[in-house]
Amino acid sequence: MKKLAVLISGTGRNLTAIINAVESGALPAELCLVLSNRADAEGLRRAADAGLPAVCLPHKEFGNRAAFDKALSLQLDKHAPDIIALAGFMRVLGDEFVLRYQGRLLNIHPSLLPAYRGLHTHQRALEAGDPWHGASVHYVTPELDDGPVVLQGRTAIRPTDTVDSLGDRVMQEVEQQIYPLALAWEAEGRLTWQDNRAWLDGAPLDQPLMLEDLPAETAAISRHSGAS
Ligand code: GRF
Repeated sequence: MKKLAVLISGTGRNLTAIINAVESGALPAELCLVLSNRADAEGLRRAADAGLPAVCLPHKEFGNRAAFDKALSLQLDKHAPDIIALAGFMRVLGDEFVLRYQGRLLNIHPSLLPAYRGLHTHQRALEAGDPWHGASVHYVTPELDDGPVVLQGRTAIRPTDTVDSLGDRVMQEVEQQIYPLALAWEAEGRLTWQDNRAWLDGAPLDQPLMLEDLPAETAAISRHSGAS
């Protein structure tokens, strides 16, 4: 069974979906570590409630990014994860760190990449008058929110949407569905990183997959993972 580490900074709704998917067997991995760079992250409590090894590594205690990244590497290497999932981890990682773990480092970003890299994605999609918004699971490369996208999901923007209503829907309908699913593919060895590209079932993924286009039985494995 592959070992999975999850890095968080906040509420931990993606973490909760991942924990639920592991507990239901939909995500066949061993959760070996939950690490937060913030002591007040609610996700740390969720991890402790689930009996998972939970570590806090406050970035403010380190003089610079390189020192924090080094301490993070030490923690990770202690637990030897095969997969590292950034789940609302609000810390930019240095190139050296990313290159060291590249290919086993995945992130979820709340937009339909390549649209809206960076912060405030819900607000930016609303202000642009976009018809759709969503989230993307991608491999992490040194450029921010720029690595190969594996899986996306979308939701229609409603005229009545606010930043909060849109954000909640993206979280529940998309993020909590696509992240456990993509991580399950990675844990099963179906999703791999070769030649700086994402591969699924032995073929390079030239385009990201869209949740709504997946066969019902494939998409269904994630349906039980969500929790708010
Ligand atoms: C999610 O929207 C994630 O995509 C973004 O930060 C948020 C984290 O939420 N990077 P949570 O901690 O999983 O609740």
